[in-house]
Amino acid sequence: MVDIAFLLNGDAVRLADTSPTRTLLDWLREERGLTGTKEGCNEGDCGACTVMVTGSDGKSRALNACILFLPQLHGKSVRTVEGIAGPKGQLHPVQEAMVTHHGSQCGFCTPGFVVSMAVAHKSGASNFDDQLAGNLCRCTGYAPIIRAAEAAQGAPVPDWMEDTPPADLASPQPFAPQSSDELAAWYLENPDATLIAGATDVGLWVTKSLRNLDKVAFLNQCADLARISVTSKEIRIGAGVTMTDVETLMQDHHPAFAEMIRRYGSVQVRNAATIGGNIANGSPIGDGPPALIALGARLILRKGRDRREIALEDFFIEYGKQDRAAGEFVEAISIPRQADTLKVYKLSKRFDQDISAVCGAFNVIVEDDKITGARIAFGGMAGTPKRASHVEAALIGHAWSQATIESAMTHMREDFDPMTDMRASADYRMVAAENMLMRCFLEEQGQTVSVLQVQS
Ligand SMILES: Cc1cc2nc3c(=O)[nH]c(=O)nc-3n(C[C@H](O)[C@H](O)[C@H](O)COP(=O)(O)OP(=O)(O)OC[C@H]3O[C@@H](n4cnc5c(N)ncnc54)[C@H](O)[C@@H]3O)c2cc1C
Ligand code: FES
Ligand code: FES
Repeated sequence: MVDIAFLLNGDAVRLADTSPTRTLLDWLREERGLTGTKEGCNEGDCGACTVMVTGSDGKSRALNACILFLPQLHGKSVRTVEGIAGPKGQLHPVQEAMVTHHGSQCGFCTPGFVVSMAVAHKSGASNFDDQLAGNLCRCTGYAPIIRAAEAAQGAPVPDWMEDTPPADLASPQPFAPQSSDELAAWYLENPDATLIAGATDVGLWVTKSLRNLDKVAFLNQCADLARISVTSKEIRIGAGVTMTDVETLMQDHHPAFAEMIRRYGSVQVRNAATIGGNIANGSPIGDGPPALIALGARLILRKGRDRREIALEDFFIEYGKQDRAAGEFVEAISIPRQADTLKVYKLSKRFDQDISAVCGAFNVIVEDDKITGARIAFGGMAGTPKRASHVEAALIGHAWSQATIESAMTHMREDFDPMTDMRASADYRMVAAENMLMRCFLEEQGQTVSVLQVQS
């Protein structure tokens, strides 16, 4: 049981003896009667439960309340749809615009949309297709909603939306180490505990698998785990850095990686999910590892005072098994600085907010029309994220030509024996992976391909 303090729609809330895995959504609806925040999927997919959370840095983020545990809010400020309208009932500009542009029919999704739109409005974002990709509407259709978001764009941000939480709200909590040193010491003593970073996986263990997590530690207050440092040698990303922040970082260094992250979950998911969680969960279809492996990233693991560094691909031993000892955690990821030649292709049934059937990352270095280096990695092709070593060997030392690519494509079957599941058949996965290699070559020849375009 834990004690938590945060601001809710401007008022301080202090909770004693709360279950650490109580979700914000359940608490809002069951304890506070704030039923504007809806439960649709209860797994982060639909955005009906979107709330605005503002940290001590004053930055507001849209998050899914259904997979947000109450301790993750400690020291923060939460605004639900009930707090988006002003204290005297004045409508927020996005609410006004939803009315005038007929943005709501049955209204079930509307509170979630309004909160996402209000956060986008506050941050000045205008890429509304991306901003609202995590909110599902089953009856109105998106055009009137996007028109409403555009119409509200120029209006000033209402003063009640300034929501920075006071510093005295955030006293240190025993369940939330404040640094990786504290975490390391605690985890060594409690190696059976569950670490919770963004809870975009762990949240589902509770809401869908109904698991009781007896002993947990929240990582979101470890300030050093959320740090990024860029030197002439490496880009070092703390395990607690969110996918939103990795996306921003990669725009400057490896834009293809950033572009793929734009299609990773939704704004709400990326605002919570961390790069460390995306690696530590060992998923064969996690979208971060293929790009990181192709970039030659190394993983920094920590147990007590000891640190070790391994190539990221070596972390994934087999399905469900990673090279991580009891009491050891992911501290950081280090990407060597290099000229950008990375290409990343995410193939999923839907463009937005979908898990990859195949995700391929290609880092091919060509000098004087000869391939001098190749690191190629895939997700969705094996029980772990994995390098295409035979394909790489068939490329290195050869001319950068269509003939080389066609020959290398035939080696994909030596590297992978993919499975058939609900996302794709084994054959489809294999052909898609081979074609991604060809796409990588054709793009270099100036033939760009968009998955949003149908070509005859
Ligand atoms: C709606 C939705 C859409 C999604 N879309 C995508 C997608 O498009 N692509 C994709 O790749 N993933 C997707 N995911 C999965 C999920 O977002 C990622 O796997 C995410 O990166 C996990 O990070 P987290 O911080 O939320 O981890 P958590 O849920 O907090 O933890 C995940 C696991 O990692 C462990 N862990 C966390 N941090 C550490 C650490 N530092 N050291 C050791 N262990 C640690 C936890 O104990 C747990 O076992 C989606 C999830 C949802 C709910
Ligand atoms: S209820 Fe669907 S995202 Fe939370
Ligand atoms: S208005 Fe009915 S689901 Fe969107």
